[in-house]
Amino acid sequence: MRKRILSAIVSTAMAASLLAGCGGAAAPAAEAPAAESKAPAAEAPAAESKAPAESAAPAAADAGDKTIGIAMPTNSLERWNRDGSFLKEQFESAGFKTELVFSNNEIDQQVSDLENLIADNVSLLVVAAIDGESLSTVLKDAKDAGIPVISYDRLIMNTDAISYYVSFDNYTVGKLQGEFVRDALDLDNAEGPFNIEFTAGDPADNNAGFFFNGAVDVLQPYIDSGKLVVPSGQTSFEQVATQQWDTQNALDRFQNILGSYYSDGTKLDVALCSNDSTALGVAQAIQSDYAGDNKVIITGQDGDEANLANIVDGIQTMSVYKAVANEAVATLDLGVAILNGETPDAGLIDAAGWDFECAYDTSSYDNGTGIIPSYLLVPTVVTKDNLKEALVDPGYYTMDDKGYLHPVG
Ligand code: BGC
Repeated sequence: MRKRILSAIVSTAMAASLLAGCGGAAAPAAEAPAAESKAPAAEAPAAESKAPAESAAPAAADAGDKTIGIAMPTNSLERWNRDGSFLKEQFESAGFKTELVFSNNEIDQQVSDLENLIADNVSLLVVAAIDGESLSTVLKDAKDAGIPVISYDRLIMNTDAISYYVSFDNYTVGKLQGEFVRDALDLDNAEGPFNIEFTAGDPADNNAGFFFNGAVDVLQPYIDSGKLVVPSGQTSFEQVATQQWDTQNALDRFQNILGSYYSDGTKLDVALCSNDSTALGVAQAIQSDYAGDNKVIITGQDGDEANLANIVDGIQTMSVYKAVANEAVATLDLGVAILNGETPDAGLIDAAGWDFECAYDTSSYDNGTGIIPSYLLVPTVVTKDNLKEALVDPGYYTMDDKGYLHPVG
């Protein structure tokens, strides 16, 4: 039932996006009048075929005999719950059975969860790694058993067992955060100097460096010229990383920074956080321990429910939204092609007819054994000003009567 509702919502959203004449994920239905987004899907037959549940890829032969193993890092960080349920829903709607596991952010548990999935003879593994460096041995077992592996969202390193990577353009996520800060402070024209502190992600996650570098590459020239200053002096990835992307770790570190470098009244202009779980901790630290009364610009990524509430309340300034529902659709179509014995390439994107932007990339992601062909979706900036058109109108979230957002699915 829930599947049908989601499909209808997303289908309607895609109808709105088509009516607006733009791609779904990258350019949310900004021009789609609200009324149109409510139009029954029946009035937009062209869009109907693009609903995720009716993915354009031909079904895998004998899908019903096949089980897809889906391994997500943890259910303690909001987004992986959504990924897990979208992936399960996609593969089941195409006729497959699924086994979905969450590994509590513990590397050993993920290894043993994967061992169990391999022992259960799954036909395909979709894996978001906890530690990208720790799965070589277990994935060799998958390879030996002839089980193809899709590296999902996070690149798995040092193994030739994975054949494809599906993610968002991770460097662009950081770049969008850096550009947002540059534009919000008008760094090219304003006199400054402005004070900024960085909070990055888990060093075990290959994505974390991409996010950080994307942001720093935009902001470094202003740091070099003195227009942006980092009072803590913590500018390297290692110094600003957050183990396990954990909210409490980010909070603790930021309280220390505020206590050590800002208690004398030094003004903090920007807290650049790589994602929402870290932004949540940093925002709490600022609320409890920052002496200044200016509004600190706080960035994030994911559109977690609590962070969107903070955006509505003016506590967090922006988030980079990644439509994981679409990431699941891309993974299904790729998985079906692999199971059908094909060797997917850029042609999959055209063949699938996705109504969201996706690039086929064969240069950015080297996992130590060579380049891993990647399907990269496009992230979107959300702020208080575009929450409705970027997230509600396309059907990803609902908005309650107080203006707060709640994820669908
Ligand atoms: C994902 C982000 C997420 C982070 C923490 C990263 O690998 O790409 O979307 O915020 O993990 O869960």
